Amino acid sequence: MSRDEVTSVFKDQWNAYQWAVDNNLMGHHELLAAAQAFIQDRYKNSSVTMVDFGCGNSLLIPEMTRSVQLEYYFGIDLADNALAMAAELLERSHIRSQQFYQDLFLGIPETTSTPNLIYSAFAIHHGNEQKKRQFFSKLYQQAPDQCAFILADIMILPNQKFDDYTHKLEQYFTKQGVRSDWLPHIMAHIRQYDYPETAETWLDITRSSGWKVLHRQILGPHKAFPATLMLLER
Ligand SMILES: C[S@@+](CC[C@H](N)C(=O)[O-])C[C@H]1O[C@@H](n2cnc3c(N)ncnc32)[C@H](O)[C@@H]1O
Repeated sequence: MSRDEVTSVFKDQWNAYQWAVDNNLMGHHELLAAAQAFIQDRYKNSSVTMVDFGCGNSLLIPEMTRSVQLEYYFGIDLADNALAMAAELLERSHIRSQQFYQDLFLGIPETTSTPNLIYSAFAIHHGNEQKKRQFFSKLYQQAPDQCAFILADIMILPNQKFDDYTHKLEQYFTKQGVRSDWLPHIMAHIRQYDYPETAETWLDITRSSGWKVLHRQILGPHKAFPATLMLLER
């Protein structure tokens, strides 16, 4: 599988993804509120240097970090169209940023300043379980002590078969009004490239890589498409 194939749906169909975010199909509203509260509380007396894995167009970042001093933001993605949108949005929001066209599973890129906040939303599920474990271990080695990690990503129920998961998802998307010319592309991408984990597996992946779990909750406005939110600390 090439990097281009994994991200092609985001390059070709960003509008479809944007529509899903705007209509809160995945729980971005709840994610924004929870991440904002965590950041505001944790960084009230210090500045933030943030790295975002699979950042897309970085849409939530200005609002999420509004109440703290964001020194620098690094976004990593393989969809160049999204990275260009991100750069523009962040500049408009007066946030100093750098975009990396890079495979997220390579870990933290060489940057001038060390991040004290890692963020990743709905991106790490593009790697299988082994890749996820390697990724979390790598970040644990790279990150400084006390670095926080906000993770949001898709979940499958215990004992649920992947076919049942995708079937229910397709029904959910249809009911939510996803356009019929978008749906086949979205579902083909999900069937081919998504690796959702159960809540317990997400917990095991992060904990066994060394990360301390400060908090976890289920996000998502609908039970057909739950996501896990985990607040972690190095
Ligand atoms: C579902 S979008 C999430 C975007 C954003 N984080 C959000 O919450 O809206 C997934 C993003 O991960 C990117 N992505 C997927 N696999 C990647 C990889 N191996 N390396 C870098 N980016 C990747 C895609 O291009 C896409 O922008």
